[in-house]
This record gives sequence, C-alpha cells and structure tokens, in this order.
Amino acid sequence: MAEPDVRVYPDAAGVAAAAAGAFSEAVADAVVARGRFTVALSGGGTPLALYRALARPPHDSTIPWESVYIFWGDERLVPPDDPESNYAQARAAFLDALPIPPANIHRARGILGAAAVIDYAAQLRIAGRAEGEGRDWPRFDLVLLGLGSDGHTASLFPGSPAEASEPVVQVAARYEGRPADRLTLTPRVFNDARRVWFLVTGEGKAAAVTAALREPPDPQARPAQRIHPAGGTVTWWLDAAAARLLA
Ligand code: 6PG
Repeated sequence: MAEPDVRVYPDAAGVAAAAAGAFSEAVADAVVARGRFTVALSGGGTPLALYRALARPPHDSTIPWESVYIFWGDERLVPPDDPESNYAQARAAFLDALPIPPANIHRARGILGAAAVIDYAAQLRIAGRAEGEGRDWPRFDLVLLGLGSDGHTASLFPGSPAEASEPVVQVAARYEGRPADRLTLTPRVFNDARRVWFLVTGEGKAAAVTAALREPPDPQARPAQRIHPAGGTVTWWLDAAAARLLA
C-alpha cells in the first residue's frame, strides 16, 4: 500500500482548480483504458467548489461527460429535492449543467428510507457485474471523500464498526444539524477503488486532518484510517488552513 500523496494549496479555490484538472486527466486515462470513468461523489460543502469548476470552461466541454458514470459514497435518507440531499446538491452544482446521460447517474434513493440500502446495493451490483470481474460494486476510478471535524468520512463515523462485509450500510449519526439517517458505502468498496481523494479545507478541519494522517492507526476512532485501497492511490487535497497542524 502506497503512502498517501498530500498536496497543499493556498486556499480552497486553489484546491478546487487543481483537483478539477486532475479529475479531467483521470477521466481521460480511464476512458482510454476502459471506455468509461466511474466516480463516487462525496456530500458536504467542500466538494461543491470542485463540482462547480467542472461545470465551467474548459472542463465542461473537454471532459467526455457521456462516458462518466456517477455514484455517491454516501447519501442522506431524504427526498431527492431536499436541499440536504447529496444528489440535489451535486445536481445544482454541476450535474444539471453537463451532458451526462441520465442513465449514467446512479443515485441512492434516500426517500425509500431503510429500503434505500437494498435499492442502492442492487444498482451497485448491476454496475459491478457489468464490469465482468464478479464484483458486487463497480471498481471506482475515483472515490471522492471529505472529512468531518469529528473525523468521519463518507458516513463512516467514529465508533462505528471498522469493517463491514456489506458494500452499503445504513447509519444514524448526528453532525452539524445535518440529516442523521444516512446510508454509506463501506471500506470494502472504497478500498477497491483505483483512486481515493480526500478534499479537506478550512481551519476547523486541521486537527482531524493531522489525526488521520499522523496519529497511530485506530480505524474505529479515526474512520479515514479505514481507507487504504490495496490496488489504488490516496491523495489528500488540502488548503493551507486544513494543513496547518501537519508537521
Ligand atoms: C455527507 C458527507 C460527509 C462530508 C463531511 C464533510 O454526506 O455529509 O459525505 O462525509 O464529506 O461531513 O463535510 P463538509 O465538506 O461540509 O465539511
């Protein structure tokens, strides 16, 4: 397993611009190699700047959007038009502005409540089986993740079981007044990815970033430490504020 690549930019706009350029390159590589690019988006506010950058020139017209397949790493169990839906936020930030075929967008149907887990697992299984390697989920070209100030990533919260045999699980966890009922992909899926990117900005994340990257392994307490793709790379995209406490 390779060490994470930690990249630090002066501010959040610098992170978004650099990550958008790398996203474009990752799509090109995957499309040349396999004819398609599969990505699991993250929720939260941090990736919205990246999403918006992808919907602007040059990326809006240079990325082969018809070959991009969109999934989510986690979702809140709310209707798809709820402002707290990760799907709704991504639509508004970039998906609606881009020529991605609707059939390429695989959202978790939060409105189904607990049944959303079964529904999303079925969508993942169909996509995984279509790759022809016997997986019950796609082998993601890119997984985007964030980091909570409490150390959670996707909806893997501190204290939750570090391992799960299922690809998708339901969780309930309170964080900053956001919807507590959620579903999340598990490390089985994240650790199968070709690339994982943590996008983390802001002073309020500095302690959590340092704990994830510098403290001894304690995956139960520090969910980001559960992420170590055996056949993939991990990149941390940080602004100077979030990187402030890294030695
Ligand atoms: C979600 C997320 C979550 C998020 C962090 C950071 O659905 O809430 O996927 O893991 O990435 O909470 O959120 P911010 O980017 O808003 O700080």
